[in-house]
Amino acid sequence: MSPTRLVFTCSLLLAGAPAFAADFLGPESCKACHAAAYDAWKSSRHAHARESLSPAQQKDARCLSCHSPNEADQRVAAVSCETCHGGGHAYSAPYVMKDPELARLVGLQDPSEKGCRNCHDTSSPSLRPFHFVEKLKALDHWSAERDKRAAAKKAQGATP
Ligand code: HEC
Ligand code: HEC
Ligand code: HEC
Ligand code: HEC
Repeated sequence: MSPTRLVFTCSLLLAGAPAFAADFLGPESCKACHAAAYDAWKSSRHAHARESLSPAQQKDARCLSCHSPNEADQRVAAVSCETCHGGGHAYSAPYVMKDPELARLVGLQDPSEKGCRNCHDTSSPSLRPFHFVEKLKALDHWSAERDKRAAAKKAQGATP
């Protein structure tokens, strides 16, 4: 990390680290740069988790805690990008996103099995127990992203 960046990063942290978790931009904000991930998510049940609830249930905090957990404090509905990846206010700037270390420093989270189990626990109405590896496959919105990036790298390498 360069000294200027280090200073910048430190001042960011001093400016109020705990606030980062409370800074959601909404899924549309990720779409321009992560179109493939967005499309996969949009057609997933996570994106429609709020709509599964009846109008009365959509006002019930007990249901929203898993079906739309960031609605009250962040105004972002359903189970969205930032529910799993952390609030994007500080990390989604292009120069931050290109720096994996800095992005994590300012709020990008690596979703874990433990995180899934916050919602996919014994109280959810699933007939079968939550099998992480299997469910992760069903969640895939990164393979297309990675393929695209690999192809871009290859094309760059190919140009003389
Ligand atoms: C201005 C474009 C831009 C926006 C907006 C953006 N990203 Fe990114 N994101 C990138 C780039 C570029 C990378 C780095 C890809 C690479 O490795 O080359 C990246 C990487 C990532 C990664 C992988 C990080 C890693 O190191 O494993 C995640 C996860 C991610 N973005 C999530 C999000 C989410 C969620 C949002 C919306 C809140 C978002 N991004 C908004 C451009 C963007
Ligand atoms: C904030 C709560 C929450 C988190 C965190 C969460 N989920 Fe979900 N997930 C839900 C809800 C709610 C549904 C059902 C949505 C509906 O149909 O109304 C669901 C549905 C799913 C489904 C489709 C139904 C199924 O069981 O096949 C998959 C797959 C899934 N989640 C995988 C995951 C994985 C993998 C993780 C962790 C990386 C995860 N989820 C994290 C709340 C969550
Ligand atoms: C602990 C987290 C959690 C809570 C709390 C929760 N749900 Fe869910 N709900 C889930 C998960 C996870 C699924 C997906 C299960 C699966 O299909 O594997 C789900 C699925 C559903 C579905 C099925 C959606 C479909 O299309 O098949 C309905 C309906 C539903 N929940 C209603 C409710 C209602 C109503 C409440 C409040 C009384 C509630 N849930 C509270 C986690 C939760
Ligand atoms: C239910 C949790 C969950 C939701 C919702 C979610 N993601 Fe992810 N995302 C993950 C997990 C888990 C991984 C890592 C998979 C792995 O490392 O194998 C991931 C990986 C990624 C990556 C990394 C791709 C790479 O090249 O490494 C990007 C980019 C990304 N997600 C963007 C998004 C965007 C944009 C949205 C919303 C449109 C979103 N995610 C919604 C859990 C989620």
